[in-house]
Amino acid sequence: MQHVDILIIGSGIAGLTYALKTANHFPDKSILICTKADELESNTKYAQGGIATVMDLKNDSFEQHIIDTLIAGDGHCDPEIVSMVVREAPARIQELIEWGTRFDRNTKGNYDYGLEGGHSHERILHYKDFTGLEVEQKLLKQIHSKTNITLLTNHLALDLITTPMTKQCKGAYILNRAENKVIPFNAKVTMLATGGIGQTYLYTTNPTIATGDGIAMAYRAKATIKDMQFVQFHPTALFYSGFKPAFLISEAVRGFGGILRNKEGVAFMSKYDTRKELAPRDIVTRAIHTEMQEPKAECVYLDTTHIDAYEFKKHFPVITETLNGIGINPQEHLIPVIPAAHYVCGGISVNQNGETSIANLLACGECAATGLHGANRLASNSLLEALVFAHRSYLKTIELLKKTVPSAINYTYTQQKKVKNVSEELDVVKLEIQQLMSTEVSIIRSNKSLEKAENRLLYLQRVIDLFDKSYQTTPQMVEIKNLITIALLITKQSIKQKENKGAYYNMNLSLS
Ligand code: FAD
Ligand code: SIN
Repeated sequence: MQHVDILIIGSGIAGLTYALKTANHFPDKSILICTKADELESNTKYAQGGIATVMDLKNDSFEQHIIDTLIAGDGHCDPEIVSMVVREAPARIQELIEWGTRFDRNTKGNYDYGLEGGHSHERILHYKDFTGLEVEQKLLKQIHSKTNITLLTNHLALDLITTPMTKQCKGAYILNRAENKVIPFNAKVTMLATGGIGQTYLYTTNPTIATGDGIAMAYRAKATIKDMQFVQFHPTALFYSGFKPAFLISEAVRGFGGILRNKEGVAFMSKYDTRKELAPRDIVTRAIHTEMQEPKAECVYLDTTHIDAYEFKKHFPVITETLNGIGINPQEHLIPVIPAAHYVCGGISVNQNGETSIANLLACGECAATGLHGANRLASNSLLEALVFAHRSYLKTIELLKKTVPSAINYTYTQQKKVKNVSEELDVVKLEIQQLMSTEVSIIRSNKSLEKAENRLLYLQRVIDLFDKSYQTTPQMVEIKNLITIALLITKQSIKQKENKGAYYNMNLSLS
């Protein structure tokens, strides 16, 4: 058993920001970040569009950003949280800038704010079309300069250590993948910053790490999990089988003038919403889904042929290069796109200070449900949420560390000894979960599809539980166990959702 003051699981924007802040405040405390792949790999790394914030109070206002967030969230946001996040945004962004993050500026030297769906004003700070990578690299550089932070890569968190009677978190069991050894880490404060769940679906913008581990661990520890039915599908992932995960064509491209056209070349968004291509994501996604039904189409198209080639390339260099690499010239060809699972608006329920329903367990970033996003996240509000809540969680940690004593109990982890390679069987189960979720619990659901999915998932869960009890723990087994838990949470919470809202749409509800 190893002891640390603060244990952080995950090295995306949420985990790294929180680590940096606590490390700066407590030079004498030990801070450990465990991350299951390499230090960069995260949803954060792939973020394209940028970070929403109102810095230009002459032309924009906090009130307008708040209203846009509430409208996109379709009546399900917590208005106090929305107001807090929007108003704290500039201070948190300023810190990112001080840590070295660059944001594009225009020829006058002012920030070059981008526009995305659901925003009534240009307010997205971005660095070309790889904002996430820029943020992640600059945060990691800071992290490496801190002597009181240890960052362990290829360390997979398996489960939280909790005291059943008092409902307190005491750390987590972590698998060192290289040595195949489970280490119980005892911590005074544990932070879950494990990101999203996109891998529950076949077609997703999320990398393979996004298996919902933190949410599943918190669920097993009996923390409150909410709003999992609100899975957001990004309208415009590139329709091309050669990339896994799906390559995103940023919403900022539509903010830059990109037009959606159906199979027949007709621009269709005005049929669905007066905001056309810049309506909130749930609306654009359902519109695309509808257009693909009659006549049947594999995808729709994003038309950028009218956009100046120099400007397009300057703003979207990675998108340009990726498209060129597969023979698409955005100035000559239409870009084939379809919706893909992108973001979970729900997750581990936290209060305004990042506290979960379990003492000394915090959650931040995509795995947390703060009330900001409601039923449908406003574009580029996710990186912002992670920054604001990392800060508030850090302030809460100052209080928690005054009160919390190290655990006297020595926790151990018993590994199943029987080694058998069930990798192929596990792959089959993973594919079935992804297919099931993509057909039955997707953009359009029905009572029947949800019931079908629940029954099959319960069966698959029994199969995986049997494997888990019988054979030695492997990362693949852990992730698939978590994927089933997430798939069931989405399905069960969908069954309980009795109103169509935001990203949730059940055809039987609309008919009643
Ligand atoms: P992540 O960045 O996903 O980090 C999670 C970390 O936890 C990773 O390091 C992972 O390896 C680790 N981890 C997970 N499970 C375990 C485990 N069991 N043990 C140990 N470590 C574990 N949002 C915006 O606001 N603006 C954008 O422009 C934008 N663009 C996006 C583009 C793409 C393609 C994608 C996929 C998402 C985008 N988003 C965007 C969403 C946003 O990037 C994410 O919601 C956000 O980065 C999540 O940050 P995070 O720190 O919570 O999680
Ligand atoms: C994008 O660039 O379209 C993604 C923005 C987001 O997910 O907020």
